[in-house]
Amino acid sequence: MMSKPIPKTPEEIKEMRIACRLAAEVLDYIAPFVQIGVTTAELDRLCREYMEKTQSTISATLNYAPPGYTPYPASICTSLNHQVCHGIPGKKPLKKGDILNIDVTVITPAGFFGDTSRMFIVGEASILAKRLCQTAYECMWLGIAAVRPGARLGDVGHVIQRHAERNGFSVVREFCGHGIGRKFHEEPQVLHYGHPGTGVELWPGMIFTIEPMINAGKAAISELSDGWTIVTRDRSLSAQWEHTVLVTGTGAEVLSLSAACPLPPGAMTGTLAKATADAIAALPPAPAHVEAFEHASRAISAIYGGVERDKI
Ligand code: MF3
Ligand code: CO
Ligand code: CO
Repeated sequence: MMSKPIPKTPEEIKEMRIACRLAAEVLDYIAPFVQIGVTTAELDRLCREYMEKTQSTISATLNYAPPGYTPYPASICTSLNHQVCHGIPGKKPLKKGDILNIDVTVITPAGFFGDTSRMFIVGEASILAKRLCQTAYECMWLGIAAVRPGARLGDVGHVIQRHAERNGFSVVREFCGHGIGRKFHEEPQVLHYGHPGTGVELWPGMIFTIEPMINAGKAAISELSDGWTIVTRDRSLSAQWEHTVLVTGTGAEVLSLSAACPLPPGAMTGTLAKATADAIAALPPAPAHVEAFEHASRAISAIYGGVERDKI
């Protein structure tokens, strides 16, 4: 049974801003380490140490065990190339041309969950891989831009699906965004496909993730025998981005921003893009990481930010 999502109180919203920024800062921290030859197990170890020692957060994914699942064994998810989501960090070194999603969910000492993920390109990737990552990024932002009071979740899913399919890609159906707060996964379910004017109506104070998984080939997925890793059934490349957003009185506020997170796509010029860019500029770099910050910030935004595109 679908229960109605309960809007957050102003105090809860404050705590969620903190939780989501901390999750984003784990990504800022790890970005410079995503290099040819590094293993995803090493990235996992570094993120765990950063969460626990620098942030005093803990990973929400470590030992996470929803009904029917074995406990998830790592502090981040690392989904490589044809892996769609929930990839388990391992000992294989990254190689040139890999595309990697790193998904971070932290729990703050106050008990709030922040959830965000980004794509990373290892060295130089193929034109297809870059176009897939860029399109998935635009899909996420188009979804965010559709968020406002009175809109419906079908509006969000629709713009995501339309943009993916216009670019010749497909949307994964089995996994979706989700409400989040004092729990990892709450109502509502945020599908990344759908029809305008359908689904749950958005209301100020709602907080949920938008995290489209976009495949270069067909939408179908399979689960690996590790019980977690999801791959494209046709083994085509897959890309995903995730932000946690708040429905405000007039639109959306992205909560999972950090100093080095990529800017909204260059073709997005409205008030949401401007407010987001201003909010990013106002944030201090993640603690204990000032040196790597410059590098990460420039590298990521050069790919996903300032690019002028007329398609979106
Ligand atoms: N962070 C993922 C999400 O966006 C969930 C990962 S659950 C795990 O909802 F167990 F695979 F880590
Ligand atoms: Co996530
Ligand atoms: Co999520």
